[in-house]
Amino acid sequence: MLRKALLFISLISWSVHAHCGSLYEDLGGREGIATVVDNFITEISFDPSIYPFFSKTNVPRLREKLEEQFCMLSGGPCEYTGDTMEKVHTGMHISSAEFNRTVELLQSAMDDAGVPFTTQNRLIRLLAPLREEIIRR
Ligand code: HEM
Repeated sequence: MLRKALLFISLISWSVHAHCGSLYEDLGGREGIATVVDNFITEISFDPSIYPFFSKTNVPRLREKLEEQFCMLSGGPCEYTGDTMEKVHTGMHISSAEFNRTVELLQSAMDDAGVPFTTQNRLIRLLAPLREEIIRR
């Protein structure tokens, strides 16, 4: 009886894993994340309320650090080597509305990269807790 129950549980966990890849894989791995980050930077550069924050930014560095961060957070084989979210955004006085707008730009970036809605939400959920380290600093 116990053996049957264990077999049942392992079959269920196998089937859950077989049908639900890691977020990193679902985002398309390193290449998919690079496309999302590129689109995100393009979205930012066309947004009149968000672009001014980035007017003096070293874009190649931003691209590299965002790729590392999204890769690591989604469970990929990367290490984030940038500064802490608090350190980077201190002094910018980012409002809650500006934070929300930036998340919308990331959603558009993922739309353009063909990332399905449910996968988009998994990444957004991982980024949401960073909000307090980023706004009003
Ligand atoms: C979930 C939201 C956000 C995440 C995950 C995020 C992440 C990052 C990362 C990883 C970097 C690079 C850090 C480094 O160079 O070491 C960065 C830089 C930057 N972020 Fe954010 N950020 C977010 C929201 C925002 C918002 C809302 C703004 C402004 C409206 C903003 C403005 C900037 C600017 C201007 C830089 C470049 C700093 C520089 O020029 O040195 N970020 N961010």
